[in-house]
Amino acid sequence: MFRIDRNLTADDLDKALRRDVAEGLTAAPKRLPPKWFYDERGSALFEDITGLPEYYPTRAERAILEERSDEIARAAGTGALIELGSGSGVKTRLLLDAMRRHGTLARFVPVDVSGDFLAASARKVADDYPGLDVHAVVGDFEHHLGLLPVREDAGPRTLAVLGSTIGNQEPGPRAAFLGDIRSVLRPGDTFLLGADLVKDPDRLVAAYDDERGVTAEFDRNVLNVINRELGADFDTAEFEHVARWNEKEEWVEMRLRSRVDQRVRVDALDLEVGFAAGEEMRTEISAKFRREGLERELAAAGFDPAHWWTDPDGDFSLSLSTARAS
Ligand code: AVJ
Repeated sequence: MFRIDRNLTADDLDKALRRDVAEGLTAAPKRLPPKWFYDERGSALFEDITGLPEYYPTRAERAILEERSDEIARAAGTGALIELGSGSGVKTRLLLDAMRRHGTLARFVPVDVSGDFLAASARKVADDYPGLDVHAVVGDFEHHLGLLPVREDAGPRTLAVLGSTIGNQEPGPRAAFLGDIRSVLRPGDTFLLGADLVKDPDRLVAAYDDERGVTAEFDRNVLNVINRELGADFDTAEFEHVARWNEKEEWVEMRLRSRVDQRVRVDALDLEVGFAAGEEMRTEISAKFRREGLERELAAAGFDPAHWWTDPDGDFSLSLSTARAS
């Protein structure tokens, strides 16, 4: 069974991109939100990143799921799995398999901003899991959680945010996001969260500044997206990728640093901006967590943290929390 709801049109996305680029390029310091990395090329580059020797998070999270998916399925008793971001990768299937084995799963609700990708991958899940009600939702989960088709589920729901997606948000928006997640769940439903952990800064920086330069290409790709979608004339070769560990905030920052004094035009916004040589524009944060801090944030959002798993090296965490009666 397969359905898809579209809460986000190409026009909505275009408006959001214009707003983000206009705001970000006129701010001081300049910044761009990471959500615009993921056009077709950016998504392919991210796939490549997940296989890099330096980028441990994907492998570490998969190792936890391989070890624990049955325990998760048993603890959660999931009737409906809602997954924000990702969609139909290996990790999702580990969960779906375990929940099916456990005999409770009736529905799968994958949510993603990228409609084409989501439609194709969710359809494949529907083909591979006969009898599973696959209800895909195209939407921006930072804004559209209230539109999720979850009202009619009989069994408990599990809402999953895997892959350290949560790391892209700063603490304020992250607290709001966790609160939104709590508010679409009922008491007893569960929240499965994959979060990367604080560790040796050299390893953290290497994960975001790999030897082969794939992450650098991924970072610069946001400029290609703006060139294509908004008629800008960024010369990507004139921007250098920088990854840095912010000790105080405990997040990795990615930045694009202008190699020269240059001016860039964005036709669709009728905007021209100058970059000084050495000027840096932040393109992403990837927050890293500690158990106590994350459990405090979960509790503040209305969850009771119930399980905490890591990979054998202790690099990455998967936690299962229960929505508390409010
Ligand atoms: C997809 C946001 C989890 O922060 O590790 C990977 C994105 N950026 N390398 C991360 C990313 C550079 C990734 N997330």
